[in-house]
Amino acid sequence: MNANWWGLLGERFKELIGRVGDSEELSGIVGSATDHHAAPYAITEELVAVYRMHPLMPDQFNFFSLKDGGLIQSADLHQVAGNRTRSLAESMAMADMFYSFGIAHPGAISLHNYPRLLQQLQRDNGEVFDLAAVDVLRDRERGVPRYNQFRALICRERVSRFEEITSNRRWADELRRVYNNDIDQVDLMVGMFAEDLPEGFGFSDTAFRIFILMASRRLKSDRFFTKDYTAEIYTQLGLDWIDNNSMITVLKRHYPEVAPALYGVENAFAPWRRLAA
Ligand code: HEM
Repeated sequence: MNANWWGLLGERFKELIGRVGDSEELSGIVGSATDHHAAPYAITEELVAVYRMHPLMPDQFNFFSLKDGGLIQSADLHQVAGNRTRSLAESMAMADMFYSFGIAHPGAISLHNYPRLLQQLQRDNGEVFDLAAVDVLRDRERGVPRYNQFRALICRERVSRFEEITSNRRWADELRRVYNNDIDQVDLMVGMFAEDLPEGFGFSDTAFRIFILMASRRLKSDRFFTKDYTAEIYTQLGLDWIDNNSMITVLKRHYPEVAPALYGVENAFAPWRRLAA
């Protein structure tokens, strides 16, 4: 993401010296020429498929107070979702909710971690369904290739044994059983959840390849990030504002009381400091 924005030469170099010609590798996509490449920009079905990350959702949420770190209330996924969200949100201070999400961890994107309450998701209209099954169904009905074919299409080598998807022997056996020993039938989402992750990754290499492509394209296709990312359009104050702010400065400006929980934290999307209860 940093290379997309600043280029491989980095933020400091761009600040001090500026762009090195048209090179988006060296100086980032932002401020380079606009280019749609092969087709006008759109969110592709592949991006939607790799973004099906429902295991990120926990079944249970805990809300804590910034004042003394104490537990304010707990709620399950059903109680925080749908048309119940607003009244729950209004029962607490916004800053306490930011703090609670700041110290919370998402669920691991892996097999056997699909939230129970999304497997019996109750919609506001009373309909109840298994979102895990619907995730798989949607990819199938929309023609997203199965896991092995998807790998081949994004230039990863095909797998011929279930053990090449995952080093977890139990999962490999389960996949073999569920898919009747036919590795080409493994659904994309299932294969991605089973994959061993590269070091330091939260999601699969397969998903990462689609993300990196789309992260670049959403900038490269947008004139406001490319040829029109100029002081004429944004004013110099505007460009400086973007450079000099982050999610941390935005949060602290609006909710100064979150500052102690962000002390020493460099990225607001990384875990915040827990305040002593
Ligand atoms: C309370 C939390 C959530 C609920 C109740 C929820 C519910 C749903 C529902 C009902 C659908 C549509 C199913 C259908 O096609 O009929 C859906 C689709 C989807 N969800 Fe979630 N979701 C939640 C959180 C998330 C999160 C955290 C992510 C990813 C980070 C995510 C990613 C997606 C994607 C990519 C789709 C497919 C969208 C499409 O087909 O265009 N969802 N979700």
